Amino acid sequence: MKMHGTMNVNHAGHLEIGGCDTVELAKEYGTPLYIMDEPFIREKCRSFVKAFSSLYPDVEIVYAGKAFLSMAQARIMEQEGLSLDVVSGGELYTASGAGFPAEKIYFHGNNKSPEELRMALDLGVGHVVVDNINELKTLNHIAGFLGKKQRILIRLSPGITGNTHQYIQTGQLDSKFGFPLYQDIAFEAVKQALSCKNLMFAGLHCHIGSQILDIKSFVTAARIVIEFAARLKSELNCESSVLNLGGGFGIYYTKQDRELLPLTLAEEIVTAVKETLNRYGLPYPRLVLEPGRFIVGNAGTTLYTVGGIKEIPSVRKYVFIDGGMADNPRPALYQAKYQAVVANKMNRTPAQEVTIAGRCCESSDVLIRDIMLPRVEKGDLIAVLSTGAYNYSMASNYNRIPRPAVILAGGGKADLIIQRESYQDLIKNDIIPDRLKKSCDF
Ligand code: LLP
Repeated sequence: MKMHGTMNVNHAGHLEIGGCDTVELAKEYGTPLYIMDEPFIREKCRSFVKAFSSLYPDVEIVYAGKAFLSMAQARIMEQEGLSLDVVSGGELYTASGAGFPAEKIYFHGNNKSPEELRMALDLGVGHVVVDNINELKTLNHIAGFLGKKQRILIRLSPGITGNTHQYIQTGQLDSKFGFPLYQDIAFEAVKQALSCKNLMFAGLHCHIGSQILDIKSFVTAARIVIEFAARLKSELNCESSVLNLGGGFGIYYTKQDRELLPLTLAEEIVTAVKETLNRYGLPYPRLVLEPGRFIVGNAGTTLYTVGGIKEIPSVRKYVFIDGGMADNPRPALYQAKYQAVVANKMNRTPAQEVTIAGRCCESSDVLIRDIMLPRVEKGDLIAVLSTGAYNYSMASNYNRIPRPAVILAGGGKADLIIQRESYQDLIKNDIIPDRLKKSCDF
């Protein structure tokens, strides 16, 4: 069992995060509860920035907000000096509400609406990462209308398959994202971008997928993008001053995963980047990376209360928790694996194999199959580790379950950063048309 960040076991045998006893947090805030380890998030940011900056002269680290974004998270990212990747008007609105500097925002997405593009330009986002030809035209038009010259990156689809779950691969030819290099589609797109008088071509972007632990995939992608930049230089005399290699850096969830160290990652990627740039005699562009999961994944923990246990003799023992696929859809979607502990029984030795099942009306709502835990009873607290990325951000109200609260823990203090949804929140957008109202409602 690997403990992450500030996780600790206190004198009472309880799991502690950021110096806070999780049993006390559950009492105060209820369960399910997401707990984010603030010092650990900050340490992840610092080690990532330091690793790349120590090896390359001009580095920008961009946090991918889709992994987890709230206004408090945006504040932490700004304080740590990171930029931000957003993919929707909603993420943009959150960042802007938190006062995040617009010029440090990269706006991504394969189908940004004209309203979202307009919003981004009105706010003054630093870069729009253009994903397809329709967007290029629309953006040029909107920028012209607003009298702006917008900096853009062109997103390439490098035609390689990242070694990860099929649903989170993005760099292959048959992908909805980016301009394929294939049949010169990307080359023609850059030519067109250069002719757009309201846009300023700043450079190239690629992102090959997520939860990738094989560094070679990033190295291959980097080489392909730089070779393309070299072609732009020699054939169009076009300079790519930004080289954004995306995110996707995998993390340790269970012992099936190895742990990527920022310095190892930086060494391999930067070596390939420099070597390829030198080979083509290109000046060093700004190197941009967009980690999401790597920054917050291991820093998040979800606490659940055990409501009951169902034993089917010689078949399986189910431990029922008060959350599940509504707050963590990843096992059902990607067969994702997680570790868990009994937060109020940290000093007890594992004694039984159980399956942790959620409360949704769906057989796929199983968070962890066949995990060894100490004897679990009704009322115990299960902590599922490494739920900081793509859990809250992908949570739903399936079965009309309110989304849990999010706590930021550090230095023995806990702050509520996202409130638990209420039943009122669940019906606040519902409308009963007059013809369906009960007569007593008129
Ligand atoms: N940059 C771009 C353009 C992206 O599309 C993504 C993720 C990232 C950066 C950050 O990737 P990360 O470093 O977090 O792997 N819901 C899936 C993951 C989808 C990732 C989408 N794009 C999951 O739960 O595994």
